[in-house]
Amino acid sequence: MKIAMVGSGYVGLVSGACFADFGHDVVCIDKDPAKIDSLRGGIMPIYEPGLAELVSSNVRAGRLSFTTDLAEGIAGAAAIFIAVGTPSRRGDGHADLSFVYAVAEEIGQKLANDAVVVTKSTVPVGTGDEVERILKAANLPVRVAVASNPEFLREGAAIGDFKRPDRIVIGTEDDWARQVMTEVYRPLFLNKAPLLFTSRRSSELIKYAANAFLAVKITFINEMADLCEKVGADVQDVARGIGMDGRIGPKFLHAGPGYGGSCFPKDTLALLKTAEDYEAPTRIVEAVVKVNDARKRAMGRKVIEALGGLDAARGKKAALLGLTFKPNTDDMRDSPSIAIAQALTDAGVAVTAYDPEGMELAHPLMPEVTMCDSAYAAIAGADATVIVTEWDAFRALDLARVKAAMNAPVLVDLRNVYDPAEVRAKGFAYTSIGRP
Ligand code: UGA
Repeated sequence: MKIAMVGSGYVGLVSGACFADFGHDVVCIDKDPAKIDSLRGGIMPIYEPGLAELVSSNVRAGRLSFTTDLAEGIAGAAAIFIAVGTPSRRGDGHADLSFVYAVAEEIGQKLANDAVVVTKSTVPVGTGDEVERILKAANLPVRVAVASNPEFLREGAAIGDFKRPDRIVIGTEDDWARQVMTEVYRPLFLNKAPLLFTSRRSSELIKYAANAFLAVKITFINEMADLCEKVGADVQDVARGIGMDGRIGPKFLHAGPGYGGSCFPKDTLALLKTAEDYEAPTRIVEAVVKVNDARKRAMGRKVIEALGGLDAARGKKAALLGLTFKPNTDDMRDSPSIAIAQALTDAGVAVTAYDPEGMELAHPLMPEVTMCDSAYAAIAGADATVIVTEWDAFRALDLARVKAAMNAPVLVDLRNVYDPAEVRAKGFAYTSIGRP
């Protein structure tokens, strides 16, 4: 089966490479010639574990190719996925759908065979209706249906998530589109991945509801962590204790510096806008957005406290380990490290940092921070070391070496990767999240 993937960003590229790996014939299309050129040369535009290998093996097998020419890319494709970006619209938080609609227009001009057009981009409820309207207005002499198929991939674990999904959601009221989509996902279906068919609008909402619910879960445990600090409880025990209840579940209950990334911040805002437009306010999500925003800067204050308070902190040096919003990605979007670095520099603290993949993208976002080429270089002479992102490389630092390199042995662990008793026994003043 031939599949076209319009948009070769994170979602399009991972999905395209995985579909090819399942044996489909996939063309990834992007209007950016530089991106297509580098992909043809085997250079990935993003860092995602396993992706470069998956792309190159499928290119070699002749199942995956890249083009800037939409007409050529969609020719003969039974399913055309729209996987272009839907950033937050500047100023108002609505999802910007101009890229999605521009692709729909172009498909309307160039489609020459029957095809199901599938929105894979995260799009607000009703977007599929508009895509359908655009395609109908093109008066194509071929059969077209529009389906929604949201993605639930996590950055850093995207290939595994694609190949072993908890579920695949397909939104369409059209029987033929259901058949085509069943064929697209047949290889996964054979692996017993549950295929959930819903209406198109339900499917569009499922994506936002899923991300918003996960954001609620994280924010809930973050607030419990703050309470734990006040009452002398341990948030990790609390998370374990509630997570063992099958109705709650253990996942996404790791307290930390607040969620970031390209999805939760943007999608929660877009959901709020939809809720507002339809006069069905989602007050829980409103609160979550506010609490999470405030938390990132509060983490900066936590570091300042560990440095002895505002007066004492001025002129001291803090080393940030990890800058990306989570490990195994170079993505810096809405990363808590940005607000933390800002709060520290505002307080007159000199900041150094090291991140295994994120420094290039981080540098312009925090120009006052000195980027270092290793964790130990960042730590040298620091008055506080702050673990911001839980990269594996920071989970087993040589604490004796860290202590010897620092000016003062202060460790602020915003991801709870160390055991408080062990670290304190090694002579550190240790602060973590929600633990006595
Ligand atoms: C998220 C969802 O998990 C995916 O299912 C979804 O497909 C994706 O958004 C998307 O909409 O494209 P992602 O943003 O890659 O994936 O990252 P997550 O692993 O969900 O982490 C998001 C943020 O929450 C990170 O900042 C992470 O550190 C934080 N987090 C996560 C916590 O603070 N605690 C947790 O227990 C889990």
